[in-house]
Amino acid sequence: MNEQDKLKKAVGEKAATMVKDGMKVGLGSGTTVYWMIRSLGERIQKDGLKIEGIPSSNQTAIWAEEAGIPLTDFSHVKELDITIDGADEVDANNHLIKGGGAALFREKVIAQAAKEFVIIVDQSKIVDTLGEFSLPVEVLPFSWHRTANEISKLGCVPTLRVNEEEPLVTDNGNYILDCPFKVIPFPDKLNKEIKSIVGVIETGLFIDMVTTVIVGEKDNINIK
Ligand code: A5P
Repeated sequence: MNEQDKLKKAVGEKAATMVKDGMKVGLGSGTTVYWMIRSLGERIQKDGLKIEGIPSSNQTAIWAEEAGIPLTDFSHVKELDITIDGADEVDANNHLIKGGGAALFREKVIAQAAKEFVIIVDQSKIVDTLGEFSLPVEVLPFSWHRTANEISKLGCVPTLRVNEEEPLVTDNGNYILDCPFKVIPFPDKLNKEIKSIVGVIETGLFIDMVTTVIVGEKDNINIK
């Protein structure tokens, strides 16, 4: 395991300790979340931890089932106690860019539904200002050319995310536009502008949603 993976494992395991008996847990997506899910699975097997999870992606649902985490959905649960997820960038105000794994829409749903929203990242994700990572935006396939053109007026040239030369289709049946703004000085304003374009399902900007960020640093876990 390389150094970055060790940090991802460490923060994943740390976040799993925040989950208590009886909690409804939002399960994010990505390689850092993988370690958190494994750790929760161990506590279920060894300590009899009783929880239910709502997964943010089909891949997460598979990992959760393998780990023995019982799953539920929003027809049974109004509110989650805690959601734990990764991120692609975390800025100085704990605003985020997410969606590198194309799961941003369901990730935002489980983030908004939770009393606590905990982000787990290695130190490479920490930035002063968002935008170096191209902003993922989930869009309706029907109108994606037009939506991309409207987003380009806000200062970037979006590209359609592809998988083996075909458009990547999200778990919701939509497309992802990757939007290289380079610098996003006013993420709240940009988020509102993009969201006002018809055809946009959701953006990867998570503004004022986070309660805790757990950062894996060399020889240290930093909580902010
Ligand atoms: C998924 O859509 C993303 O928001 C992930 O949370 C993000 O890409 C972090 O993934 P890693 O933990 O694999 O870096």
